[in-house]
Amino acid sequence: MKNSFLAIFLVFLFVGWFVILCGGQEDQDVAPMETKEKERLYLAIQGFIGKQWNGSDLYPDPCGWTPIQGVSCDLFDGFWYVTGLNIGPIYDNSLQCTNAKFSHQFFELTHLRSLTFFNCFSSPSQNPTEIPPSNWEKFSASLESLEFRSNSALIGTIPTSFGGLKRLQSLVLLENGLTGKIPMELGNLVSLRRLVLSGNRFNGEIPVSFGGLTEVLIIDLSRNNLSGSMPLTLGGLAALLKLDLSNNKLEGKLPKEIGNLKNVTLFDLRSNKFLGGLVQSLEEMISLKEMAMSSNPIGGELSEIQWENLRNLEILDLSNTNLTGEIPESMAKLKRLRFLGLNDNKLSGNIPPKTVTMPSLNALYLNGNNFTGKLEVSVWFYKKMGRRFGAWNNPNLCYKAEFTSTVHVPYGVKPC
Ligand SMILES: *[C@@H]1O[C@H](CO)[C@@H](O)[C@H](O)[C@H]1NC(C)=O
Ligand SMILES: *[C@@H]1O[C@H](CO)[C@@H](O)[C@H](O)[C@H]1NC(C)=O
Ligand SMILES: *[C@@H]1O[C@H](CO)[C@@H](O)[C@H](O)[C@H]1NC(C)=O
Ligand SMILES: *[C@@H]1O[C@H](CO)[C@@H](O)[C@H](O)[C@H]1NC(C)=O
Ligand SMILES: *[C@@H]1O[C@H](CO)[C@@H](O)[C@H](O)[C@H]1NC(C)=O
Repeated sequence: MKNSFLAIFLVFLFVGWFVILCGGQEDQDVAPMETKEKERLYLAIQGFIGKQWNGSDLYPDPCGWTPIQGVSCDLFDGFWYVTGLNIGPIYDNSLQCTNAKFSHQFFELTHLRSLTFFNCFSSPSQNPTEIPPSNWEKFSASLESLEFRSNSALIGTIPTSFGGLKRLQSLVLLENGLTGKIPMELGNLVSLRRLVLSGNRFNGEIPVSFGGLTEVLIIDLSRNNLSGSMPLTLGGLAALLKLDLSNNKLEGKLPKEIGNLKNVTLFDLRSNKFLGGLVQSLEEMISLKEMAMSSNPIGGELSEIQWENLRNLEILDLSNTNLTGEIPESMAKLKRLRFLGLNDNKLSGNIPPKTVTMPSLNALYLNGNNFTGKLEVSVWFYKKMGRRFGAWNNPNLCYKAEFTSTVHVPYGVKPC
């Protein structure tokens, strides 16, 4: 009697257990996501890609079994939230924009860590769009990466409220139609590691407040319309690896503080209006691999710098910089130098034979100067360099006549 009761009890227990187990599994298959968060996501995406996109129809479980290309999610306290949003034609099935607009629901996705718009705002004539000035503070506790790339119809200024994104590690506003001054508030982004504002139409000065970006590794402000001088506060960014200010209208003397940039490997100031000579503290930027200063009216003497201190240098472009004086012997000690551009300056004197036998050199441009005397170079060298050796437009330069028999003679230089 007792035993059969026990047996029946055990069967019930077992069956009950089974039901609970299976039911539980069914629950777990459907990812728990609050209806509110789901609605926000649908309406945010609809804003960017158009009313015809019906999220609840196509993607009933966007963080679970019907994932959306470009949307990523994470669990917080057992519920799914949207943490990544990638809008633009990256893959065939990506979310493609038409008449993209920022809906107010978009700013309620407050768990977003990464946000990218690529080729999204792209018809300047039909639908020029500004970045909304407010509401960005809603992302301040979460957003780590914010990118707008190749959005030619994205116009207007950078919202000052971007300065409140204290978690931001990467801000990339590359090749859009943005204008106006760079807000000084960006200097408050204390976690920033990468700042790319290249290829817009920003004007005004580089904010002095950038000295506050103590974690920053990469600053790229190239291809804008920036003016004024380089703020000396940039010299305080000790962690910096790359500084690209090329193709702007920056002017004045280089601040001597740049000598503190001991970790910088790329220093690109091409096509600006810098002047005042090569400041001596350049020789303290000991990690430099690439220094490009071409097309600036810098002036001064090439020998102002102890070039041998920059022993990691691989690319040195000083063409069209109004430099005077002779090539110093110390340059020949740059054992890793591959590219040396000294063309279109006012350099003079003899070309030191050691300069043209630097072990790694495979491009050397000396054309458009006033070098004199005899080029002491071997046929082997001309063969090796080919078109990557330029010495023309030096009216008082000649090459050793012994080599006239071969085709490997320096182009545009007469025999002695
Ligand atoms: C999406 O489709 C559902 C079901 O077909 C419909 O009820 C809903 O109104 C549609 N939503 C939009 C925004 O079109
Ligand atoms: C660049 O700025 C100058 C003023 O500094 C202005 O005259 C010029 O139109 C601007 N150029 C572009 C392309 O915006
Ligand atoms: C500079 O680079 C070195 C070597 O990578 C690193 O140890 C050091 O912390 C860097 N300096 C700064 C200020 O980040
Ligand atoms: C080049 O430097 C000289 C002084 O050595 C100066 O007179 C001249 O204006 C400069 N040229 C340019 C284009 O800046
Ligand atoms: C080039 O150098 C020669 C010889 O040193 C000198 O006479 C001449 O004036 C210089 N030409 C220019 C344009 O500087």
